[in-house]
Amino acid sequence: MSSHPTPHDPGAIDRPPVTLPQIAELKRIGQPIVMVTAYDYPSAQVAEAAGVDIVLVGDSGAMTVLGYKTTVPVGLDEMLMLTQAVRRGLKTPLLVCDLPFGSYESSDEQAIATSQRFIKEGGCDAVKLEGGGTSVQRARAIVCAGIPVMGHIGLTPQTATALGGYKAQGRTAQRATDVWTDALDLQAAGCFSIVFEAIPAAVSEIVMERMEIPVIGIGAGPSTDGQVLVFHDLLGIREGHGARFVKRYRNILDEMVGGVTEYAEDVRAGRFPTEDHTYSIDPEELKQFRARLTEHHTGAYDFMS
Ligand code: KIV
Repeated sequence: MSSHPTPHDPGAIDRPPVTLPQIAELKRIGQPIVMVTAYDYPSAQVAEAAGVDIVLVGDSGAMTVLGYKTTVPVGLDEMLMLTQAVRRGLKTPLLVCDLPFGSYESSDEQAIATSQRFIKEGGCDAVKLEGGGTSVQRARAIVCAGIPVMGHIGLTPQTATALGGYKAQGRTAQRATDVWTDALDLQAAGCFSIVFEAIPAAVSEIVMERMEIPVIGIGAGPSTDGQVLVFHDLLGIREGHGARFVKRYRNILDEMVGGVTEYAEDVRAGRFPTEDHTYSIDPEELKQFRARLTEHHTGAYDFMS
């Protein structure tokens, strides 16, 4: 949990894995829940070392690490590969994975089969799906199959086109009521948690009065039980600032470009590698090596002549 020492602390101890009851307990005692996305082994190790509570293999990875323009094209096998890499780098936080677009909407059977793959092959603890409506029924089916589900309402990037683009949701009385209905329906369906994305803070606050399960916000104001940010947004590993709700804590992209640029300059100027980065050989062995080559060369010459 976030208050435990990180592996980099001198007195670090092996922390037990975070469980669903612990996440519920954080809500009960009013301790904010920290969630971050990760998409590979190093980002998982960073999340582990930072002591976050939940790691999400978000389908935002479609854009941040796979270079797609939206989250829609990413496939199930691609998401599974990202999830497996994260699993290998993670010991403690709860691991949740996004069901990608097209992998759960068609039927309850499809939703269960996809979720089972994420649990069995991806090693995650829970799955996340987007939307209310039909997704509520899918969530219920997955929960009944014994797999914990996190919901996701408000701005749901997989269906952003249908929502009129990447913009805040619940900004009219009718749309705020839709948010309220979706949240309560997903809660009743058995979700252990829900993400509220890009919802006016005042609307979240009203819906939160009825939420018994932990709600993780992203652009949903301070009343939710926790917060989530995309790894690449908060660390500045992508160009542009992103959505209004992003807070950038570092500018790692600048650091990375700077490092590779210096490396290129060093190679071109002959400054790298130096002796520090070079292996040595015993001078006597080197002498014998030269002698062997001379013999070999002479032999080859004799043969050819
Ligand atoms: O895909 C993702 O990263 C997400 C978070 C923004 C919640 O769904």
